[in-house]
Amino acid sequence: MSDSGSLAERLVDAFLAVRNETERRAGPLSPEDQQIQSMPDASPTKWHRAHTTWFFEQFLLGEHCPGYKPFHPDFAFLFNSYYVSAGPRHARHRRGDITRPSAEQVTAYRTYVDAAVVKFFREADEAKLRTISPLVEVGLNHEQQHQELMFTDILHAFAQNPVLPAYDPEWRFPAPNKTGAEWLPLNEGIHSIGHADDSFHFDNEKPAHRALVGPVRIARNLVTNAEWLAFMRDGGYRAAPLWLMDGFATVSNEGWQAPGHWREIDGSWYMMTLAGLKPVDPNAPVCHVSYYEADAFARWAGKHLPTEMEWEVAARAGQLNDAFGIVWQWTRSSYSPYPGYRAVEGALGEYNGKFMVNQLVLRGSSLATPGGHSRITYRNFFYPHHRWQFTGLRLADYD
Ligand SMILES: [Fe+2]
Repeated sequence: MSDSGSLAERLVDAFLAVRNETERRAGPLSPEDQQIQSMPDASPTKWHRAHTTWFFEQFLLGEHCPGYKPFHPDFAFLFNSYYVSAGPRHARHRRGDITRPSAEQVTAYRTYVDAAVVKFFREADEAKLRTISPLVEVGLNHEQQHQELMFTDILHAFAQNPVLPAYDPEWRFPAPNKTGAEWLPLNEGIHSIGHADDSFHFDNEKPAHRALVGPVRIARNLVTNAEWLAFMRDGGYRAAPLWLMDGFATVSNEGWQAPGHWREIDGSWYMMTLAGLKPVDPNAPVCHVSYYEADAFARWAGKHLPTEMEWEVAARAGQLNDAFGIVWQWTRSSYSPYPGYRAVEGALGEYNGKFMVNQLVLRGSSLATPGGHSRITYRNFFYPHHRWQFTGLRLADYD
């Protein structure tokens, strides 16, 4: 949020900027595109647009705006994601069944809630606005997370479509930065990890705490498609000794021979992108790899994945090319609470804390992450078999 203007107008501007970005991303998608749920982990565009709206209706208007009347009595059930304390909800893997409300009705829902929120900001007194500001920031950052998912989920859906539609034919994969020495030793010692001030952050980034880091060298650059192709040509996907047992079981069961959204045509590799099917660019960072694949690749390369602490120390020191904006980077750190972490009281305590088991931390941000949503302390997390996100890796070396 900018510092100029009244708090009410700053909230209005920040709110509408994020809400409009969601609609901009949905803009090229037809009502039919917005309906599809191509796998249980992905959600329809229409659902993302409605769910992010429900978040403001439920937690902001419903709890802080006296007299607010919800848009429709069924929507809390349809568009609550996982908040047990906010009541019963529709099954996550059946979101594609929700043909009604239509995309047009979801647009009306968004318009109704937007108008109510703007009116609320403009009529609330300063003390009330100060009370609700942190909640608004959570709501906006939540919606930005869903903006990224809108891209990953529609790309997965389009990759299942035999005609391989382009979300935007003009879209281009971001070019990597390739400057400086390839390997850099970290400043060995005790470092502060996590978010230390009161600027916006998710609760999982706190408490800041100390961690011993090093000796270690971390790769300045992301692993590229050329390096990944060498791994594939060397039989990497078939070499059981390179893999964790769960990883090799997943590779075998899924028949994986290449990263997600890749396909081989007449001996050449192509990948499905937001611009449709494109030849794999050897110089681009590898994308759509799972933790299992990243871990096997690191073993094949005689290296390791960094811990999230090592990543954070290197990023703070400016030692990483493309830390942000191309692919999230797998670390080998389990997604666990930082020492002393407690989820906040109430429904929003369900936002992060209850997911802190069996997942791995990714750091950085991706080509789909909206502007202003990245920070060095940001902790993303996914299950080790997940690869429909824009996920890649960089390596660490302890020799
Ligand atoms: Fe959500």
